[in-house]
Amino acid sequence: MNSFKTRRTIRKYSDREVSNELLNEILATAMRAPTCGNMQLYSVVVTRSEEGKKTLAPAHFNQPMVTQAPVVLTVCADFNRFTRWCSLRNADAGYDNFISLVSAVADASIYAQQIVAIAEQQGLGTCYLGTVAYNAPQVADVLGLPSLVVPVACITLGWPESEGEETERLPLEAIVHEEKYREDSDERILELFAEKEAFPANIGYVRENGKENLAQVFTDVRYTRQANEHFSGIALDYLRKAGFLK
Ligand SMILES: Cc1cc2nc3c(=O)[nH]c(=O)nc-3n(C[C@H](O)[C@H](O)[C@H](O)COP(=O)(O)O)c2cc1C
Repeated sequence: MNSFKTRRTIRKYSDREVSNELLNEILATAMRAPTCGNMQLYSVVVTRSEEGKKTLAPAHFNQPMVTQAPVVLTVCADFNRFTRWCSLRNADAGYDNFISLVSAVADASIYAQQIVAIAEQQGLGTCYLGTVAYNAPQVADVLGLPSLVVPVACITLGWPESEGEETERLPLEAIVHEEKYREDSDERILELFAEKEAFPANIGYVRENGKENLAQVFTDVRYTRQANEHFSGIALDYLRKAGFLK
C-alpha cells in the first residue's frame, strides 16, 4: 500500500519519451477495471502531437502541463459505440438519457483512475485537469466527439521531472460513517478541518489571496458561486446537445 500512501500529482515532466508500447499496455490493463454491465462505456483520446496539444491547451485555460506533458489523455463517457452496436443488431437502445449518462460517467471515471494507478505504479507522473468539466464543449470540438460521447477526465502523463508537492488529507474519521451517516456538530467540523487549515501551504494560500481563512480561498478564489453557476449552464446546454439530456 505504500506507493498509494506516498503518491503525488506530478505537474512537471522530463523529455523522456513514453513509448506507445508502454502507453498501450497501461490503457489495455486499465480496461480490466470494473465496468457497468461489462458495457465499457468509455473511450480515451490520446493527444501526443505538438499541434494537438497546442489546440487543446486553451480548453484547459492554458495550464502548462497540456503542452509540457508528452501525453494527454481525454477519457470520455461513451454510449455512442454501444448504441450503434445495438442499432446494427436490431436492438432498441434507450441510452440517450440522464441515468445512462451517470453510468457512463462512472465507467469513464473508474477507467481514468485505473489508468492513473497503473501509470503511477510504472513510475510515471500524472495530473488530472478539472478544466475538462468547465470547457467540455471546446474539448469535444477539438477532439471531434460525436453524440453520446462527452469528456469526463483529462490526464497529463509523463516521466516526472520533479517530486510533486506534498498535500494533506482530512482525517479518516471525517470520511467514514459507521452503519448510518453521522452529521457532525459544528465544533467537530472545525476540528476535522483543523489540520487542513494548519497545513503550511494552505496558510500560504490564505495570505497570498488576502483572505481571512482557507474556506474563503475556495469560495472566493478557486471555486466561486459565480463560476460554478456559469459553467453549470454551459454544461447542461452541452449535455443536451450531446444527446444525453432532453
Ligand atoms: C477531478 C480532478 C480535477 C483536477 N484538476 C486539476 C487541475 O485542473 N489542475 C491541477 O494542477 N491539478 C488538478 N487536479 C489535481 C489535484 O489538485 C490534486 O489531486 C490534489 O491537490 C491533491 O494532490 P495530490 O494528488 O498530489 O495528493 C485535479 C484532480 C482531480 C481528481
